[in-house]
Amino acid sequence: MTVRPSRADVARAAELIRDAEHVCFFSGAGMSAESGIPTFRDGLTGLWENYRPEDLATPEGWHRDPDLVWGWYRDRATRLRTVQPNAGHQAIAELGRRMRADGRRVSIVTQNVDDLHERAGSMVDAHLHGSLLGPRCEFCPYRGEPDLSLAAVRPSCPKCSSSLRPNVVWFGEVLPENEWTAASAAIEGCSLLVIIGTSGVVHPAAGLPMLAAEAGTPIVEVNPVRSALTDLATVHLPSTAAAALPDII
Ligand code: OAD
Ligand code: ZN
Repeated sequence: MTVRPSRADVARAAELIRDAEHVCFFSGAGMSAESGIPTFRDGLTGLWENYRPEDLATPEGWHRDPDLVWGWYRDRATRLRTVQPNAGHQAIAELGRRMRADGRRVSIVTQNVDDLHERAGSMVDAHLHGSLLGPRCEFCPYRGEPDLSLAAVRPSCPKCSSSLRPNVVWFGEVLPENEWTAASAAIEGCSLLVIIGTSGVVHPAAGLPMLAAEAGTPIVEVNPVRSALTDLATVHLPSTAAAALPDII
């Protein structure tokens, strides 16, 4: 039985968006679910169901078996090439175009490592957990081209010959400073925060919406079920990204 948002809640969310000078979208894996990308806590699917994310998305897992970890991220980057942005990504990009035409602002802070917001035409202010596309060197500032993430054999750095690694944040690693700064500025500066598709359990990223709540900024959440952030929401729409976002935008 799927719960649907009330017409009143949809109208309230649409009104908040209409009246906002700066809307910030904070997205998680649920944003990309309807594009066919499995979320994290929906369990690993396909080839990887015999592994735990902790074995694959940690520095320990990487040092234990870098080729296995490289292959997991390569498979995810390859799969990303076969999927498309969904109606939720498109709606956010359309709102961005409209609000920019009015001299208003849309910002996007995502925990996702895919490029679906960008491929829908949005500019992303912060990828808090990095990106599947474009590996980086373990020891020097070298950053590879997006397609290098699809290399079948783990490549070495052309600058210093060290190993290249996925440019994503692993459990226990610090988030990129510049991404964190951009994300905090967008969330502190927005006049409406829209949270989409995150369980809100992975910190420090999940702590960012609290900055908006503490500033008294209204918060809309789109998630079929309650999350750890739902208590912060002015309006919770129990719906999906591809269904709710076109409705309220
Ligand atoms: P999760 O898998 O923890 O949560 C996904 C959320 O999306 C859940 O609350 C679902 O109810 C919701 N959801 C599922 N389908 C949806 C849909 N179609 N529309 C809207 N919501 C939907 O993913 P995240 O919260 O993004 O970090 O996980 C946060 C971080 O944990 C990830 O960035 C990753 C992971 O470890 C790193 O890799 C460092
Ligand atoms: Zn290097």
